[in-house]
Amino acid sequence: MKAKFLAAVAAGVMSVTAFSAALAKDLNVGTHPVFAPFEYMDTKTNQYKGFDIDMIREIAKRNGYKVKFHNMGFDGLIPALLTGSIDIAVAGMTITEARKQKVDFCDPYYQAGQSLMVRAESKNVYKDAKSLEGRTIAVQIGTTGADFAKTIKGANIKAFNTSADAFLDLKMKGSDAVITDRPVIGYFVVSNPRAAKGLVQQPIVLDDEWFGFPVKKGNTKLLNEVNAALKAMKEDGTYAKLHKKWFGN
Ligand code: ARG
Repeated sequence: MKAKFLAAVAAGVMSVTAFSAALAKDLNVGTHPVFAPFEYMDTKTNQYKGFDIDMIREIAKRNGYKVKFHNMGFDGLIPALLTGSIDIAVAGMTITEARKQKVDFCDPYYQAGQSLMVRAESKNVYKDAKSLEGRTIAVQIGTTGADFAKTIKGANIKAFNTSADAFLDLKMKGSDAVITDRPVIGYFVVSNPRAAKGLVQQPIVLDDEWFGFPVKKGNTKLLNEVNAALKAMKEDGTYAKLHKKWFGN
């Protein structure tokens, strides 16, 4: 295989870039692209987009991998790592003790936290965890937002496949609040003004979380490759550039 490509390059029918691309190993990336601005599908181009997507494309490039995305449910990502059908999950995934029992996380790459979305008319009523005791809370299945909601006394929890479904439920008065990652609420409000009409984000962060990319336990090769690229990207300004692109200043 390699000889064939080398011959093609020598004969001048293949560029060196095409040659290295042809030899690049696949990096199978699992994601749940309904979590803008971290990962989403661009409906016009049908392309994966977002901060996490740019991050993993760059990390892969620096390690000579070709990214192959796999679109799956959020709660299917860790099982897919365990069976080896993906190499890494890129999904705004919070590093938690429970998940660390099953997978190894690369170094933390983004500081996050849960926040609240409510309907404008109840903005002065539901403003923190305490005020939601005994109320109905919409969350995304299998997330740290769902875990947080479970700690609220007497809360009735409605779990949806996506945050967008949870926001819709809130809008239709099926629930009193949505708990999800703060930047995801912020991005939804700004990028979907029609869908977000009548909803407001509370200026509160409920907890402190860090996102990390998990790999299969014991996959130190990939873990080290990703960590080295993350470190270099922080040092050479690439991380800051991508952060600015997706989160502004
Ligand atoms: N940060 C939260 C968690 O780790 C939510 C992540 C949801 N990500 C997604 N791509 N749907 O549980």
